[in-house]
Amino acid sequence: MNDTEQNATSALADAMTKAAQEAHDREMGAMPAPAASIEDSPVRMSVEHLDLYYGDHHALKDVSIDLRDRQVTSFIGPSGCGKSTLLRCLNRMNDMVKDCRIEGKITLDGEDIYQNYNVTRLRQTVGMVFQRPNPFPMSIFDNVAYGPRGLGIKNHAELEEIVEESLTRAALWDEVKDKLKQSGLGLSGGQQQRLCIARAIAVKPKILLMDEPTSALDPISTVQVEQLAMELKKEYTLVVVTHNMQQASRISDSVAFFLLGELVEHAPTAELFSAPKDSRTSDYLTGRFG
Ligand SMILES: Nc1ncnc2c1ncn2[C@@H]1O[C@H](COP(=O)(O)OP(=O)(O)O)[C@@H](O)[C@H]1O
Ligand SMILES: [Mg+2]
Repeated sequence: MNDTEQNATSALADAMTKAAQEAHDREMGAMPAPAASIEDSPVRMSVEHLDLYYGDHHALKDVSIDLRDRQVTSFIGPSGCGKSTLLRCLNRMNDMVKDCRIEGKITLDGEDIYQNYNVTRLRQTVGMVFQRPNPFPMSIFDNVAYGPRGLGIKNHAELEEIVEESLTRAALWDEVKDKLKQSGLGLSGGQQQRLCIARAIAVKPKILLMDEPTSALDPISTVQVEQLAMELKKEYTLVVVTHNMQQASRISDSVAFFLLGELVEHAPTAELFSAPKDSRTSDYLTGRFG
């Protein structure tokens, strides 16, 4: 193990010990449950009665959900239940899919993103990180500068500043600061994913969508990306698709469970995992299907 891995592993061990201690203390009545409820945070995006069809296939059925500021909302559910489809609706990535039709409404800060909304502006505000890290075949610097350049920023000093800031926020700066001119494709998988996160935040989005961002990563890189998500939520609204229940419980403020295109239940994380209201949720959590 190198130093970085060692640090990540001991950070994980520390976090787990602390979480276990807190859970124990809470159980013993020594520590009150966190007071903040998810409703304390303002709604950033709101999905209202959304139906989505791929041709004849009804992939999302009357889905309504609020996504709140500076919180991590996780989408869980069996493969094919519509998690990625819903995520893509949030920055209109399904616009490009042939025969895809939606009904209903999605708002961002109160504005309907499907009515007279500038899609370029939308994609700048709502960034996306994919399952497989997908750096562009160019240098580390150019990957991060790509979005800002697209927005018209040409001044090199200004770009340098944005690149450093974005890589720092993505917890990658120290590892790459001496090789910014090297190809992004030469990095490890975990570093590539953090580079993609840096690229996404370089255009200063407000919301970050992540579709199974760690499923192609090793355990150490997974911990790093999860820690990063916890850090990023101080400034951004995060929506994370994951099929990993432990991950959902570690990083989310609230969890939404989907089944066959329906949103079955959306609740604060501890509530959804410990006291689900719908029997389909408990069946899924106990491994009866999916
Ligand atoms: N581009 C597409 N064209 C047609 N059907 C699609 C497309 N993308 C997804 N689907 C279908 O929509 C359903 C939901 O898919 P998806 O959102 O990818 O689920 P999940 O992310 O939960 O695994 C599945 O039945 C899938 O086959
Ligand atoms: Mg998916």
